[in-house]
Amino acid sequence: MEKKKEIVMSGIRPTGFLHLGNYFGAIRNYIKMQDAYECYFMVADLHSLTTHPDTKELKQNVERVLAENIACGLDPEKAALYCQSHLPETSELYLYLNMLAYKGELEKTTTFKDKVRQHPENVNAGLLTYPVLMATDILIHRASYVPVGKDQEQHLEMARNFAQRFNHRYGNIFPEPAAFNFGENLVKVPSLDGSGKMSKSENGMSTLFLADEDDMIRKKVMKAKTDSGPTEPNSPKPEYIENIFGLMQLVSTPDVIAKFDEDYNNCNIRYGDFKKQLAEDMVKFISPIREKINNILPDKKYLKNVMEMGAEKGIKSTNATMKLVREAMGLKYY
Ligand code: TRP
Repeated sequence: MEKKKEIVMSGIRPTGFLHLGNYFGAIRNYIKMQDAYECYFMVADLHSLTTHPDTKELKQNVERVLAENIACGLDPEKAALYCQSHLPETSELYLYLNMLAYKGELEKTTTFKDKVRQHPENVNAGLLTYPVLMATDILIHRASYVPVGKDQEQHLEMARNFAQRFNHRYGNIFPEPAAFNFGENLVKVPSLDGSGKMSKSENGMSTLFLADEDDMIRKKVMKAKTDSGPTEPNSPKPEYIENIFGLMQLVSTPDVIAKFDEDYNNCNIRYGDFKKQLAEDMVKFISPIREKINNILPDKKYLKNVMEMGAEKGIKSTNATMKLVREAMGLKYY
């Protein structure tokens, strides 16, 4: 008999455009996992209501995030790719788990404290229980692994606590979900402004988005900080030069990188040519993805089909879990 695959779950916030950091940090790993695991990848539309009660742009943002992930290689036939709001039982389990979450621990959550500072005018209960909803997303599929970045580790730890409390009180239903560790595959995608990493909130000119046009990619790369070049052979590289090499590692061939490295060490690197090479290799990498995004986005029928297919797989999994949950809790009177 075929061994049942282990379950992986992750959520993606529908907040606009994906960038190179998202690609190498998360999406590429989702794609690698979709054969070996039973994967649930979800667009966290309900979570976005905790900070964005205005839903005018929600549909558009959900469609974009779906299109961008599919264009990168996420296969809706293999993984369950769905919207959080399409699994109605999410709300039910969220309610039960809320009874096991304490006000004190929720108030201590780092992301909650950050949001309170940023938006003191909208400290709603949904924001406070954000980690409970995230735990629900994971536990409702009885997932074992959650590929997330460092910023989500505290939420994941809370999910383990809620699972433990539930199991202890009502019976063993939930595995304790662990962060999926990519080991040495964790790559840093440096920002083009010389320090830090690419991010949505940073200055848009230092981040390469998967939807950027070729000329925009060139313009951003050519603006990357350099200097007049090394004067001593084999000198250490300043961070901003190291970063350009770092970006090259992601998209250029090893011989190209070796050539510029040698030029650097021999003090005859020409930064104009160096950046031009990186710009062209970036264009080669990003433009097929961008074209796929642009083909998928207007195809509303296809996107609807993807969401329906994902919801169907998702609901099958949540139904099975919730049946066990209600029984374990004794919420079954006839
Ligand atoms: N909170 C996550 C983020 O901000 C998104 C998310 C929602 C998530 N539900 C999840 C991630 C479940 C992993 C598992 O990025």
